[in-house]
Amino acid sequence: MFSKNTLHERTAHAQYAIRELFPVAERIEKAGGKIAKVNIGDPVPYFGTPKYILDAYSRALMGGKTSYGRSPGEVPFIEAIARRQKRKYGAEFPAENIFVTQGASEAIEFLNICLSGKGRGAVLFAPFYPTYVPKLRIYDGTPYLSQCNEEKGWAPDIADLKRQAAAAKAEGVELKYILLINPCNPTGALWNRKSLEEVVEFAKENDLLIVSDEIYDEIVFGEEKFVSISQVAGELPHVILNGLSKVWCATGFRIGWMLLGGKGKAVTEMSDAVMRLGTLRLCPSIPAQYAGVEALDNEKAHREFLASFVPEVRKRSEHCWKRLNEIPGVSCQRARGAFYLFPKIDVEKSGCKNDTEFVRKLLEREKVWAVQGSGFGLGGHMRLVTLPTLDVIDAACDGIARALKAE
Ligand SMILES: Cc1ncc(COP(=O)(O)O)c(C=O)c1O
Repeated sequence: MFSKNTLHERTAHAQYAIRELFPVAERIEKAGGKIAKVNIGDPVPYFGTPKYILDAYSRALMGGKTSYGRSPGEVPFIEAIARRQKRKYGAEFPAENIFVTQGASEAIEFLNICLSGKGRGAVLFAPFYPTYVPKLRIYDGTPYLSQCNEEKGWAPDIADLKRQAAAAKAEGVELKYILLINPCNPTGALWNRKSLEEVVEFAKENDLLIVSDEIYDEIVFGEEKFVSISQVAGELPHVILNGLSKVWCATGFRIGWMLLGGKGKAVTEMSDAVMRLGTLRLCPSIPAQYAGVEALDNEKAHREFLASFVPEVRKRSEHCWKRLNEIPGVSCQRARGAFYLFPKIDVEKSGCKNDTEFVRKLLEREKVWAVQGSGFGLGGHMRLVTLPTLDVIDAACDGIARALKAE
């Protein structure tokens, strides 16, 4: 019988800040209100999936690629992923260490099924992409948040990392992995080689698996080059997450991948476990993987797409960054990649008690939909997606300025 106590308490962890205000937004729109949406990091409504990828998807469909397939992923796609990682970062990943997933989201799930548990934990650099903490907690793990240094462009704070490791030890929690997101959602930060080397050193000293979410690796502004953890970690066990969603503008394909790098028992055990986990969900979308082969292999078409996409994303990001810093009560670090900004806001100025109340007020009164910073592990901030056109960004900034005027 479905009684009151049927649900397991773990379901309480299933919270996703980015989608929390959907009912409010729906109510506004039903009443005819127009919302300046700066809340969801989906490039497709603004830029569309490149045609060469859509054509490849159609060919796969019409060519009958609609059956079940291999659990870890289709061989041609796994080979294309390996070729790309070698071409871009000089790193070799054998096929048995490459897993295609239903978006990077499923890889995050696999990671936590493998490593989280009671008495186990992970260090996450904060601010972070929101699904990491609930997924760790659902599998009984404990998060330790290491706040990045905002004034230094959100660089890692190694002294704080050490404090987190000490806190876990004092609480009898065994740390299993350390997570970084580079370029970062939600801050737009890009970490240089030195920062990555410091993280690698810390992971080595504390026997941690390094997890690097590199889903924005080709959305980088300026001269500074993106450095993959696969160029720095060497033989130290590491996991890289990536996917078609952002760099190839194909969020709805639901295709991501997980690369297991480094040497040792941890890597072979993870490889075996992820292989078995993959069988439980049968396989990722087959036509989308064949479109993925073209997406990754057709370098010329991809370069052409990025040559228009990245400068436009940059232009919108810079415009939003300038506008935000003109608002009294707002200060914002410049983004060096991805498509987000994470301004600090003086919420007291608006008469709200915290950032969560502020973003609700912003949506209800000003019809601007941003997300509270506390959903990303740092209160007193909010996250803005800088993908919309400049008129929407302007409307969002005007609304923020009005909301921050004391009443
Ligand atoms: C850092 C980061 N990782 C993972 C994801 C999820 O990606 P996917 O669409 O591949 O599941 C996102 C989506 O916004 C993200 O920002």
